Amino acid sequence: MDLITTTLNIEKYVLGLQQMPKSLEVVLSPALLSEVDIVGKNVVVIDILRATSTICTALHHGALGVKPVTHAEEAALLKDIGYITAAERNGEKLPGFDMGNSPFECMDGKVKDKYIALTTTNGTKCIEMTDGAANVLSGSFLNISSLANWLIDSPNDIILFCAGWKDKVNMEDTLFAGALALKLKSFVEIDCDSAQMAMQIYRNNSDRIIDFLKDSSHYKRLSRLHHEEDMIYCFQEDIMDCVPVLKNGILVAY
Ligand code: MLT
Repeated sequence: MDLITTTLNIEKYVLGLQQMPKSLEVVLSPALLSEVDIVGKNVVVIDILRATSTICTALHHGALGVKPVTHAEEAALLKDIGYITAAERNGEKLPGFDMGNSPFECMDGKVKDKYIALTTTNGTKCIEMTDGAANVLSGSFLNISSLANWLIDSPNDIILFCAGWKDKVNMEDTLFAGALALKLKSFVEIDCDSAQMAMQIYRNNSDRIIDFLKDSSHYKRLSRLHHEEDMIYCFQEDIMDCVPVLKNGILVAY
């Protein structure tokens, strides 16, 4: 861009004639969240296997809202006020709760017109780390285009926050961050190596997602637990249009 055009563009920004392009950053692990400023930004929490995929599925199947909690004891207490309780650790359902964290547990009608208290190994903890954000959203392949359109329509900067696995980077959340960033790249400014890497990973593997992820730690973990069908389900794109947004501590369909 030549100097004259650049100067004119800056003048338009200064005069408020043109909105400063919003930024997009990718955070690959909760351990890196402190490296970015989330205040006033739209934060998309990403836990493809399976928390944010299950959250989208529950709302799509009529749940009134999903309250993410970090500790299982918090979820258990909410049963007394009519919540469906869902708890998972290390991929397995915790005993004594109504559900684990499989999206298929949301499809038999039990969650319709109910609130769900959900605690998982990583995803729900990440949602509770987002104080100060303008909006907190739940991202999955299942609702990727509706989510992208919501973010495009909002003026706020964007943080794509990968839950990973116990502070380690994981492949599936990074892959999704790349897919979403590619849908947004024409509408944002991306000055973030994590985002560039994530987009390149998705570009190179979008037509072979299952094969690409078969070497991932979470795919192996969930396969050992016979949750292969959960993973096939969670990698489907655009099968629902709900956009989960956090309101008063509860994720509801926007
Ligand atoms: C997580 O919180 O990391 C996942 O939701 C765990 C799982 O469902 O296997």
